[in-house]
Amino acid sequence: MTTSAARRRRRTKIIESAPPVTQAANRAMSYKPFPWQEKAHKTKARFKNLWCGRRAGKSRFSIHETMSAIVEAAKTPLIDSEGVDRTASLSPQVHIWTVGPTNAQLRQVWNEMKDFIPPHWIVQGRPGQMGGRNRSGWKEDEMYVWLELRGTDGRALPGVVRPQVFWELKTADNPEALQTVGLDFLHITEAQDVKETAWNKLRPTLDSPGRLGRAIIEGIPPLSKAHWFS
Ligand SMILES: Nc1ncnc2c1ncn2[C@@H]1O[C@H](COP(=O)(O)OP(=O)(O)OP(=O)(O)O)[C@@H](O)[C@H]1O
Ligand SMILES: [Mg+2]
Repeated sequence: MTTSAARRRRRTKIIESAPPVTQAANRAMSYKPFPWQEKAHKTKARFKNLWCGRRAGKSRFSIHETMSAIVEAAKTPLIDSEGVDRTASLSPQVHIWTVGPTNAQLRQVWNEMKDFIPPHWIVQGRPGQMGGRNRSGWKEDEMYVWLELRGTDGRALPGVVRPQVFWELKTADNPEALQTVGLDFLHITEAQDVKETAWNKLRPTLDSPGRLGRAIIEGIPPLSKAHWFS
């Protein structure tokens, strides 16, 4: 008899490979990956495409994959072809997007981010700017958050050269707005409902100098084989 876990494993398709997940980051957030999630985290890939069934754990996996990418990006300086350190030219220092078809779908990811991002990483706004009246640090209407990677004692973390992180959630309904940035990491959720025009705008954001340019693209298998996510 086929178990649902086996069915889920079969439906999970991982393309290419990426650096392994930062285990220390996972532990800090009390996340214990399912076996398939663990395997997918460890797979070395730049882009990971996940086709899974409903409620398989795609989005939770993706939040933790994003957190690992943030830690990796934060530890990666930008050294140009002449060996000069250009890290200071990156603004924001680390840039992350989560993209989904609708606000309602993004809201689920947003709410889970609040459960798993260490609270001492949340800052009021871009360093050097005032946080405004919303003092929580989570910008609810625009759905973005600034993080500053540091220890619970406020000290700099070893090896971190890009501590400031800008994480934005964006809907895919206006593809024209999904461009002109260089991303360290892109998470597309419910990819089967994201139009190809949006993907075509997003793809170049992953090829920016000095940026990690990694992605996780997750959803249920599209109905049509002609879909860009097939
Ligand atoms: N590693 C895990 N440990 C414990 N529970 C988990 C884990 N991963 C996922 N879950 C649980 O499974 C539920 C579904 O997870 P998630 O929302 O990530 O799935 P999904 O595949 O994105 O679902 P959907 O198809 O609705 O988008 C979560 O609410 C969570 O309770
Ligand atoms: Mg989901």
